[in-house]
Amino acid sequence: MASVKHTDGMLKPGTFDKKTVVITGGGTGLGRSVGKYLLSLGANLVICGRRKDVIEKTAAELERETGGKVLGTACDVRQPEQVDALVAAAYQRFGAVDCLLNNAAGNFICPTERLSYNAVNTVVDIVLKGSYNCTLAFGKRWIADGRPASVLSIGTTYAWTGSGYVVPSAMGKAGVLVMTRSLAAEWGKYGIRLNVIAPGPFPTEGAWSRLMPPGMDGLFASEKRIPLGRLGEHQELANLAAYLLSEYSAYITGTCVTIDGGEWLRGAGEFNALEAVTREQWDMLQTAMKPKK
Ligand code: HXC
Ligand code: NAP
Repeated sequence: MASVKHTDGMLKPGTFDKKTVVITGGGTGLGRSVGKYLLSLGANLVICGRRKDVIEKTAAELERETGGKVLGTACDVRQPEQVDALVAAAYQRFGAVDCLLNNAAGNFICPTERLSYNAVNTVVDIVLKGSYNCTLAFGKRWIADGRPASVLSIGTTYAWTGSGYVVPSAMGKAGVLVMTRSLAAEWGKYGIRLNVIAPGPFPTEGAWSRLMPPGMDGLFASEKRIPLGRLGEHQELANLAAYLLSEYSAYITGTCVTIDGGEWLRGAGEFNALEAVTREQWDMLQTAMKPKK
């Protein structure tokens, strides 16, 4: 059997033939990587972001790199009228839309007591309002057309653990998770599936520039914090996203798949700090503590 690598593309060529996928925040980072992979699997792609220059440049690059069709359009997902215009532009260009990836996000680290109301609103609005604006706008259209569809949202593991210093993001992502579970129950009858991916750390310029305090990256050393000892590769997340958006996952809805090398469980388990104890220390501890027969 041919050996496979975790950085290989996983799905069959043509998996997304005749499918159109919309990726919010698809101009950069993980959204761009997932978009590129979906194009290689035959998808038509619509990407949006607030910065017109960034989105148009990425759309042109992706078309050049893959030979696929990409519509890049400026859209602030917080603004319902701009989201309606995104839906209209996508349908005008490609005739229909089959999948939505809620990927756009805003985030930065800050002690919560230092946040202004506007700072909290800004992050919660991008993450939560942006995701429900897009899900509702496309969902209404799919239901009216009787068209099955798949929605995937990029969440975080702290949507359920919570996390200090990124509280607005945690509140927004928790809302996206519960929206997903709620609508999976309500919209299954329309053939609309909704799922979430909760990634651990995957290096991107957008996340690293806002979340890694300069000079303090040792705090986040992956070999200490992540059981599998490394950061995520974009292709690993792209494989999972493509699977959950595709027909291969037709019986999966309302779920959240974590892809974090075990990071959140390492942080959660009460005794996981014992990872720091060496073999020799264990020998001494067991001599001292294990009852003698
Ligand atoms: C405190 C801050 C701040 C900071 C902004 N604000 N940055 N407060 N500390 N570092 C405050 C501002 O002072 C302002 O409040 C309010 O937030 C809005 O800021 P603006 O700069 O006016 O907003 P805007 O230009 O819309 O930018 C939005 C943004 C920015 C969220 C602040 O970072 C952005 O554009 N982000 C998009 C991309 C992104 O965040 N990518 C990373 C996703 S990574 P006042 O009161 O002064 O008006 C991610 C990973 C999670 O989510 C998990 C990792 C493992
Ligand atoms: P990124 O490159 O900064 O991506 C965020 C994108 O969202 C940008 O392209 C940004 O473009 C867009 N965006 C922000 N506000 C928007 C708005 N109001 N309307 C439309 N688009 C908007 O960061 P990333 O790391 O790839 O993050 C992608 C997703 O993964 C996010 O949901 C993030 O929370 C999640 N995530 C990332 C990691 C990680 O380790 N990287 C871990 C867990 C979860 P504009 O600025 O042009 O609008």
